[in-house]
Amino acid sequence: MNRFTGKTVLITGGTSGMGLATAHRLISEGAQVIVTGRTHARVDAATRALGPDASGVVADAADLGAVDALMETVRKRHGHLDSLFANAGIGTFLPFEDITEPDFDHGVDVNFKGVFFTVQKALPLLVAGGSVVINASWTLHRGNSVLTLYSAAKAAAHNLARTLAAALGPRGIRVNSVSPGYIDTPMYPAAALSTAEEEALTGQIVAGRFGRPEEVAAAVAFLASSDASYINGQDLVIDGGLVGAVPA
Ligand SMILES: NC(=O)c1ccc[n+]([C@@H]2O[C@H](COP(=O)([O-])OP(=O)(O)OC[C@H]3O[C@@H](n4cnc5c(N)ncnc54)[C@H](OP(=O)(O)O)[C@@H]3O)[C@@H](O)[C@H]2O)c1
Repeated sequence: MNRFTGKTVLITGGTSGMGLATAHRLISEGAQVIVTGRTHARVDAATRALGPDASGVVADAADLGAVDALMETVRKRHGHLDSLFANAGIGTFLPFEDITEPDFDHGVDVNFKGVFFTVQKALPLLVAGGSVVINASWTLHRGNSVLTLYSAAKAAAHNLARTLAAALGPRGIRVNSVSPGYIDTPMYPAAALSTAEEEALTGQIVAGRFGRPEEVAAAVAFLASSDASYINGQDLVIDGGLVGAVPA
């Protein structure tokens, strides 16, 4: 498939996990990709791994000055954007009572404010026929006791997909979100779990295993592409059967 030939796509948080897998996927389908991350070392490593169709920009999604500078760099390098994958995010895995105001501010700054302003500041570059995909989370569909802050910020990020679908529709820009389940990435590495923990988690999933970043990348590529031209304001859950089904 070459759905992205001649297309330029910005992926925030493209240095590892789902962002990096999506960058590989889109490049394999013909895209020019810009990936971001917080450090030169990780951005450089990712762009080296991705090859000549990728470039990188160091930009903290929570720092609006950095997001402005990112968009200016994209404008100078490419002049426009066909798609944006607002993927940069962090996990705050703490009990409700232990979350401090700095934890709260940081979690919301990256997972919601960062997404909100990344889309806003990308808008002048996004072409008619373009698309935005926001990385939300299965946790917006199902409560988890140690994911209060994270889940609320992800629910807000998903809600943007609905309202921005309406707001940006007249400009020909579609906006959707994805809600990955347990995906084996540096944020949530299956290898860091004890056998008992892994069995408890995978026992909740019909597929009986964690997802792979490439499985999310395939769904993001679909939503970002013209194959999804009539899909707007939706959340696509990619969880192997965690939210909507119960294992037999
Ligand atoms: N793994 C899961 O089970 C799971 C499930 C549902 C949703 N998600 C969501 O999926 C997205 C990707 O996570 P992942 O699992 O692929 O984990 P990951 O490998 O840790 O990737 C996170 C990416 O976000 C970047 N990032 C973090 N904070 C940033 C900031 N302030 N500014 C710019 N970039 C930042 C990281 O870049 P640097 O570290 O290089 O700065 C990295 O590229 C996140 O939004 C996460 O919440 C994950």
